[in-house]
Amino acid sequence: MKFSYVNPTQIQFGQGQIASIAKLIPTDQKVLVIYGGGSIKSNGVYDQVKEALSGHQWTEFSGVEPNPTVETLDKAVALVKEQGVDFILAVGGGSVIDGSKYVAAAARYDGDGWDILEGKHQVTEAVPLAAVLTLPATGSESNGGSVITKAATKAKLAFVTPIVQPRFAVMDPDVMKSLPERQLANGIVDAWVHICEQYLTFPAKAMVQDAYAEALLKNLRQLATAFEDRNDSWRANLMWTANQALNGLIGAGVAQDWATHMIGHELTALYGVDHARSLAIIQPSLLRNQLPGKKAKLEQMGRNVFALEAGEDLAERTIQAIEQFYYSLDVATQLTEHGDDKAAAVDAILTQLKGHGMTALGENQSISLERSKEILELAVA
Ligand code: NZQ
Ligand code: ZN
Repeated sequence: MKFSYVNPTQIQFGQGQIASIAKLIPTDQKVLVIYGGGSIKSNGVYDQVKEALSGHQWTEFSGVEPNPTVETLDKAVALVKEQGVDFILAVGGGSVIDGSKYVAAAARYDGDGWDILEGKHQVTEAVPLAAVLTLPATGSESNGGSVITKAATKAKLAFVTPIVQPRFAVMDPDVMKSLPERQLANGIVDAWVHICEQYLTFPAKAMVQDAYAEALLKNLRQLATAFEDRNDSWRANLMWTANQALNGLIGAGVAQDWATHMIGHELTALYGVDHARSLAIIQPSLLRNQLPGKKAKLEQMGRNVFALEAGEDLAERTIQAIEQFYYSLDVATQLTEHGDDKAAAVDAILTQLKGHGMTALGENQSISLERSKEILELAVA
């Protein structure tokens, strides 16, 4: 094990915490509040933010869509540059927070912001930002990741840098009360796969990372079982679990996979599949395809997370248990959004993967386009 670990995001967790924004952003800062399609206007979050910022000079940018596009975000970049914005406050789910990270970095760059996603510009500065989380799923509120789509070319790419990590994150579980069940299920699945991407690789004898990952997976199983009986503690535990799943801790010093995410992003970009659902479609097929390399960790997960009995086929039974977990949340494990031409869909996804350089994925870089094709043959209905 060898790693450097810091998570500098201050977490303001619990009911009523939106009010703390008032003191966390200095009053001499000109603030831009960025939000999405308007859920915050109908559930009272906007009003709480407005109240908290009553001593600040602030303006707003709305309309960031799920799977945020550079086409929309570049309008916010122009606004930040024109108005001399000092601080960005993202109020929303992963899409709004990711989008705000892009705006923060692109506003301090003279070239085309998309260069950041293509790796042509290394981010060295960004407008400071913070987040009010309204949908627990991505962990974006306290990590340095951002995933942005270019609608024109259907490219969904990521960039990661500590420079855009939120200064603070407000996590009030009450904001989840207005979430549709579909988005709650998405949150559970996304957090689940984030843990798997950092845990289901090969044994590294990393006792802390393994045990903590297993605790988080068990939490999500339990929360899924109690989905119909949601209450305050259910919401608080989901919000905190999803955050811990992708704040850097369980991934420190261990191999990481992320192939499910990279292939899943293409399904979202091509067919509009929700992010979490794209993962549930790819992951079981990918695990079966990569079974030899992942066998030991799948068996460990079977024992420690699902309490399955030992046996030759334990790894396969663990994959089946993961599938059952998704079905219990009404989440499918095969793509149907492409229509009925399976061969054309597999080709289209492979072409996009190749175009985006996704030709050696996984913890061993062993998922070539040929392997991705095998995975897609199973994952596409
Ligand atoms: O736009 P509004 O009106 O706010 O509605 C949103 C949106 O339609 C709604 N919503 C959010 N909070 C709500 C609410 N509705 C009612 N009440 C609330 N409290 O939910 C819908 C989906 O929101 P979105 O932000 O798109 O969902 P999510 O948080 O799942 O974010 C998905 C995005 O994050 C990226 C994904 O690729 C995708 O683009 N990811 C970011 C990661 C990161 N930064 O580390 C990692 C993840 O793996 C993921 O890739
Ligand atoms: Zn994800």
